[in-house]
Amino acid sequence: TPRVGLIGWRGMVGSVLMDRMTTEGDFDKIEPVFFSTSNAGGKAPMGDEPLADAYDLAALKSCEAILTCQGGDYTKDMHAKLRAEGWDGHWIDAASTLRMNEDALIVLDPVNRPQIDAAMAAGNRNWVGGNCTVSCMLMGVGALFKAGLVDWMSTQTYQAASGGGAKHMRELLTQFGTLNAEVKSLLDDPKSAILEIDRQVLGRQQAMTGGDEAAQFGAVLGGSLIPWIDADLGNGVSKEEWKAMAETNKILGRGPDALGGSEERAIPVDGICVRIGAMRCHSQALTFKLKGDVPVGEIEAMIEEDNPWSKVIPNEKEATMRDLTPVAVTGTMDIPVGRIRKLAMGPDHVGAFTVGDQLLWGAAEPLRRMLRILIE
Ligand code: HSE
Repeated sequence: TPRVGLIGWRGMVGSVLMDRMTTEGDFDKIEPVFFSTSNAGGKAPMGDEPLADAYDLAALKSCEAILTCQGGDYTKDMHAKLRAEGWDGHWIDAASTLRMNEDALIVLDPVNRPQIDAAMAAGNRNWVGGNCTVSCMLMGVGALFKAGLVDWMSTQTYQAASGGGAKHMRELLTQFGTLNAEVKSLLDDPKSAILEIDRQVLGRQQAMTGGDEAAQFGAVLGGSLIPWIDADLGNGVSKEEWKAMAETNKILGRGPDALGGSEERAIPVDGICVRIGAMRCHSQALTFKLKGDVPVGEIEAMIEEDNPWSKVIPNEKEATMRDLTPVAVTGTMDIPVGRIRKLAMGPDHVGAFTVGDQLLWGAAEPLRRMLRILIE
């Protein structure tokens, strides 16, 4: 039974991961070693061993694989130290730190199992989960890329608060509550003037701006949106937008790298990434320029058959409102794709809309599946 070190299992992504690993019986196949950055010696969530120290190189080196959701700072600090000491175990990581390194593969096995197998055969030891938006998108519409049908794709995102972290989710809900409280008595009176309610809400939103009540996002999200996610790259592009093209192509094995990537032309993937007031599902409106006039029925069949989780939602109002929302998808492994239709720009332009739980396929699931691939 392989010893697998688990780090960052208590956080939001880590907790979802633990839950999924329990459901899938992963703990029956490994000897888990629970680490802590702050509470070494404390009680582990299972087994008799106390929590190990996540900065103890000897303890880490005793593991054949390490699975971390601890975050980028921990990866930056400990991954290089372990490798410098000659540890050649498998490092499975949720953080973006190593993602674009030549000696790391982005794992999303329903989409890139051939790349994973080739990298394993080549002795790769670094396996990193992709950006949540990219992973959820490829789980939904990866079939079109695999079939070589995509000339380019534009994605406009509607990203949930959870992408920022647990504190961001709390901040969003607190803002909603504050705004409601501000106008509660007017709301309770059906005869009150809606524009007065609106004026008071805006006043409260403006008062929040720049203060503690909007400290996590840096702008008010409740009753508003934020059309910038992650760092400013200085060229008009946000880091989240840059990741869409860079990671999509890396996952598909395009672009030069040491793990069997080809020099094929990268497929342009670009658009605007926007934070909205959803809890933990990232949604995306996609525009495809296909290489030909592929009938909608064929596109739907390809998406439906691609993997057990992608599912087509008929492009009708009732089905869309029932099945293609963050509320419908949260907590499920499904990646629904709907609103599939030809656009007015021409028969090779296709629109679609997809939703995915960014903590499941967007973060935890590809990692635990990679662990299973390694130990089976
Ligand atoms: N960058 C993502 C977001 C987080 O902020 O929504 C998950 O990769």
